[in-house]
Amino acid sequence: MLSDKSFPVIEATLPLVGSRIGDITPKFYARLFGAHPELLDGLFSRSNQRNGNQQQALAGSIAAFASHLVANPGTLPETVLSRIAHRHASLGITEPQYQVVYEHLFAAIAEDLAGVITPEIAEAWTEVYWLMADALIKLEKGLYAAQANDAMWTPWRVAAKRPAGTGSTTFVLEPADSTPVTAALPGQYVSVKVTLPDGLRQVRQYSLSGDAGTSRTFTTKIDDGGEVSPVLHRNVQVGDILEISNPYGEITLKEGDGPVVLASAGIGCTPSASILRSLAAAGSDRRVLVLHAESTLESWALRSQMTDDVERLDGAELQLWLERPAEGTPAREGFMSLHGVDLPADASLYLCGPLPFMKNIRNEAINAGIPATKIHYEVFGPDIWLAN
Ligand SMILES: Cc1cc2nc3c(=O)[nH]c(=O)nc-3n(C[C@H](O)[C@H](O)[C@H](O)COP(=O)(O)OP(=O)(O)OC[C@H]3O[C@@H](n4cnc5c(N)ncnc54)[C@H](O)[C@@H]3O)c2cc1C
Ligand code: HEM
Repeated sequence: MLSDKSFPVIEATLPLVGSRIGDITPKFYARLFGAHPELLDGLFSRSNQRNGNQQQALAGSIAAFASHLVANPGTLPETVLSRIAHRHASLGITEPQYQVVYEHLFAAIAEDLAGVITPEIAEAWTEVYWLMADALIKLEKGLYAAQANDAMWTPWRVAAKRPAGTGSTTFVLEPADSTPVTAALPGQYVSVKVTLPDGLRQVRQYSLSGDAGTSRTFTTKIDDGGEVSPVLHRNVQVGDILEISNPYGEITLKEGDGPVVLASAGIGCTPSASILRSLAAAGSDRRVLVLHAESTLESWALRSQMTDDVERLDGAELQLWLERPAEGTPAREGFMSLHGVDLPADASLYLCGPLPFMKNIRNEAINAGIPATKIHYEVFGPDIWLAN
C-alpha cells in the first residue's frame, strides 16, 4: 500500500508520468543496454526492442500499477503481477536485477522530466517501483521454489519434428540429462533458448501443445520476419539439443466440473489443444465447447489432435470458422463470432489468438453474460492489451 506521504504525489503526477512514460522507457533501455549489453544475449528479445512492444508493456504495467494503487488502496493488481511474474520466471529474472533496472529507469526519469521532477516526486515513484518490484520478487521466488529442480535451463533432445498444418511444426522433446522434470499444467508454456546465426542467443516462449505433465511438446508457426521461429523450423533437426526452461504460465485449466469453452484462432490453438488433451486423457465428463477459427482448414496446426480429442469426450463439441471454407467440412465462413453460439451457462472461457480476435470474443462473451472473472486469455507476446 502507498504511504500517506506518497499517495497525493502519485495521484497528482500520474497524468504527467503516464504521458511521458512512453518516452522515458526508450531512454531507460538505451541506458540499461549501454551499461549491460549482455542482457540482450539470452534475456531480452532483440525484436521486441526493435518493434517497441516491450517498451509499451513495461511502461503500461508501471502506469497501470500506480493507477491501481490510487484507485484501490490496500490491494494489488494480482492478475497483472501474476502474468509478469510467470513471464519473468520463465526467463530466470533474479532479485539483484531489480536494482539494476531501478537505477537505469530512475536515471531515465530524471533525464526526461528534468526541470519538473522534485525530490518528493522521485521519492514517491521510487516507492511505487519497489512496491511493484517487491511483489514481483516474492511471486517469482514462489514460482522458482515450486519447481522440481533449481536449474534455469535444461537440455532436451528433439525426438520428433513434424509438420503441423501450413507453416507450423510440432517439436517433441525428451530429456537429455537427469535433471528432475517439473510436471507442467495444461495451458502452460516453456521458454526455448536458441543461438541465432550471428551468435546471439534469443529466448521465446512456446505453449505446450500436447500432453502436460513431464512431456514437452510444442508447436510453432513460422514468422518469416522473426528471429527464433525460422531457426527452429529450418535449422533445428531431430537429435539436436534445445535449452528449455521449467514450465510457467497462469492460464491453466481451473479445477471443477463446470463447462469449459476453449476459443482460439490460428496458432493460438496450442494452449487450447493442451487443455483439451488433458480433459480427454482424464475422461472428463465436463461439457467442453471448442471454438476455433482459421484462414483455411490446411493451416489448422493441431487439427487431427483436437478433432480426435473432441471425439473422445462425450461432453465435447467442436465449432469451426474458416475464412476460406473447405468443401465437405462443416464450418461457418469468416471470422469467429459468438452470435448464434449456444454458450453453456456458468462456463469458463479460455481465449488465445491475435489481440483483435480476443478483444472481440471477450466483449461478446461479457455481453452474453460470462463474467469477466471467468474469462482467461493468453497473449503470444508482450501484453499490450494489459498495458493499454
Ligand atoms: C506465453 C506465450 C506463449 C506462446 N506460445 C506460442 C506457441 O505455442 N506457438 C507459437 O508459434 N508461438 C507462440 N508464442 C509466440 C513466440 O514466443 C514467438 O513470439 C514467435 O514464435 C515469434 O518469434 P520470432 O523470434 O520468430 O519472431 P521475433 O523475432 O520475435 O519477431 C516478431 C515480429 O517482430 C517483427 N520485427 C522484428 N524486427 C522489427 C523491426 N525492426 N521493426 C518492426 N518489426 C520488427 C518481425 O517481423 C516479427 O514479425 C508464444 C508467446 C508467448 C508470450
Ligand atoms: C518493477 C520492475 C519490472 C516491471 C514492472 C516489469 C514489467 C514487465 C512486463 C509488463 C513485461 C511483459 C510481460 C508480458 O506481457 O508477457 C516484462 C517482460 C520482461 N521483463 Fe520485466 N519488469 C520489471 C523488472 C524486470 C527486471 C529486473 C528484468 C531483468 C533485467 C526484466 C526483464 C524482462 C524481460 C527479459 C522480459 C521479456 C521481454 C522480452 O523478451 O523482450 N524485467 N516485464
